[in-house]
Amino acid sequence: MNRRDLMAAAGACAALPLTQGGARSQPAPAGKPVKAEVSFTVNGRKHALDVDTRTTLLDALREHLHMTGTKKGCDHGQCGACTVIVDGQRINSCLSLAVMHPDAEITTIEGLGTVENLHPMQAAFVKHDGFQCGYCTPGQICSSVAMLDEIEAGIPSHVTSDLTVSVTLSESEIRERMSGNICRCGAYSNIVEAITEVARTRA
Ligand code: FES
Ligand code: FES
Repeated sequence: MNRRDLMAAAGACAALPLTQGGARSQPAPAGKPVKAEVSFTVNGRKHALDVDTRTTLLDALREHLHMTGTKKGCDHGQCGACTVIVDGQRINSCLSLAVMHPDAEITTIEGLGTVENLHPMQAAFVKHDGFQCGYCTPGQICSSVAMLDEIEAGIPSHVTSDLTVSVTLSESEIRERMSGNICRCGAYSNIVEAITEVARTRA
């Protein structure tokens, strides 16, 4: 078989489901949604939701509670734009179902501070220009707040060299621990400066 024959055969295969109406071209029928009730506290306010059990926490926040501060970037757990704090731990809310969090205490960017009274991390991001378009920023800020708590709790990271002493904050620690939060504008050095400043005031 020469190259021309190979291309013709490949083209015929690609067209097969369309020309023959094959089953592979049809999406699987969607099952009837299964609904469940879940209640949790978001930024100090209790909410009870009746949701399709497939609803992610991210969609519950954005679509059901209309709290759009938490962003949907990749929706695949790869960018960190959807980071929120659940019971003190940062998570990618796009990877977690809402029904997995009964009675949880959830903090989103809307609950950290207000325009008049910014959270210290929000103020530091503004001061150090830790953003450009701002799309990743809610996730960056929620993640960095929880990340400093992790350091204070003595939780080591992949770059912690000595596990027998308390973790020392360093640029490499911050960059490693924040590596799940992608900034397509590349504001990383300013983000590190902002986090470093807040960490120093907490020390
Ligand atoms: Fe959740 Fe990207 S939207 S990690
Ligand atoms: Fe634009 Fe981070 S500020 S993606």
